[in-house]
Amino acid sequence: MHKVIIKGGRPLEGKVRISGAKNASLAILCASLMADKPLVLENIPYINDVKVLIEIIGTIGAKIYWQDYQSLYIEPPEKINGDAPYELVKKLRASNLLLGPMLAKFGCAKVSLPGGCNIGSRPMDLHFKGLRGLGAEVSLERGHIIGRAGKLTGTQIYLDFPSVGATENIMMAACLAEGQTIIENVAKEPEIVDLANFLNAMGAKVRGAGTDIIKIEGVTSLDKCQRYSIIPDRIEAGTYMVAAAATRGNVLIENVIPKHVEPLIAKLREANVDVEESEDTITVTAGKQLKPVDIKTLPYPGFPTDLQSQMMVFLSTVPGTSVIIENIFENRFQVADELKRLGAKIKVEGRMAVIEGGSSLHGAHVKATDLRAGAALVIAGLAASGETHISNAIYIYRGYQDIENKLKLLGAEVRCL
Ligand code: EPZ
Repeated sequence: MHKVIIKGGRPLEGKVRISGAKNASLAILCASLMADKPLVLENIPYINDVKVLIEIIGTIGAKIYWQDYQSLYIEPPEKINGDAPYELVKKLRASNLLLGPMLAKFGCAKVSLPGGCNIGSRPMDLHFKGLRGLGAEVSLERGHIIGRAGKLTGTQIYLDFPSVGATENIMMAACLAEGQTIIENVAKEPEIVDLANFLNAMGAKVRGAGTDIIKIEGVTSLDKCQRYSIIPDRIEAGTYMVAAAATRGNVLIENVIPKHVEPLIAKLREANVDVEESEDTITVTAGKQLKPVDIKTLPYPGFPTDLQSQMMVFLSTVPGTSVIIENIFENRFQVADELKRLGAKIKVEGRMAVIEGGSSLHGAHVKATDLRAGAALVIAGLAASGETHISNAIYIYRGYQDIENKLKLLGAEVRCL
């Protein structure tokens, strides 16, 4: 059983280098299926979610292998020679991002309906609305999403919610559609911009990524990209920033784009944490006179839901009352029950969590319920006195490359089993 054991209660000191963005890598890996010639993706994080998607893409017929520690060679298939196997797909919700590329390039797709996960039901109605708008037939048959399409045709699509995944699936499919596609009320996350940049590097014509409206002129081939480097992971960076604040440490975060973590920087400064920025580094120093803050999670550029659990831990260490409102997922406060085992005082009412901060945290046995809850428990273990055992740590390894060594270099006493 996967477990992380931490002897906490000491400040994190030193520097940590951020790896490539998990959520950009997963989307761009799916998009690479649309390429008409081999290419190399650089700065890909060596994490479990990426390894599972590589296996899935290999099953579909691509030739794909690690050229070195963080570069992937990919030779897309001429045609699909297998379905995405359920055993692999059920491990990775992001495999739903294969839909758009497969329909656009191969005219067919069969992907297991990725079940819900611990943070919410994770519907796909907006994905289907957009793909059907482009002319694809999409149906659900015995737990699978079955897609069929001739030549897709450009259209105008309005997203009822700025869904990251729906924006990505529709954008990828529209690149090979006939004519122009306009997508309105799209997600504006940095990972959307990175995907658009990759598609354009392959020869697509995507405009407006990062704004509310994306316009795409369909093309007939995507053969222009030889090499592409993924942006740094803003959520990994934010996780280490919060860990520095929660342990009252002093940490230099390297290989980060400060603008991508602006909402977190603003909140930490509001809490009286000292945050210094340069072009590609952020230094976080936390003293004693910290202040409670309130947080509302929102689509980018609002405060990211993927840093909400981590901030809950930090606010548990700050004297005073803080309130978190989770507006993106309906069930993303599960970590609160585990934090209470460490001594945190948190009251959850629906989408609101009220944190009475300032009580000291003491090590205990806890379990991770999802990726970011697991990361939050690591921060709690670092801040707590005594020893914390985190079980179900496999969740953590999905999204954090080399977390044991990165934390040890910051002075943490940690073992990942
Ligand atoms: C992406 O998930 C990320 N995953 C998530 O990161 C992240 O939390 C989320 O975006 C929000 O930023 C990847 O990129 C692989 P959504 P996604 O579609 O695309 C509703 C992590 O920890 N919705 O933006 O699944 C949905 O119910 C993971 O790295 C619909 O109603 O998120 C939710 O309430 C966790 N209909 C909201 O939108 C749809 O068709 C946000 O979902 C699709 C979504």
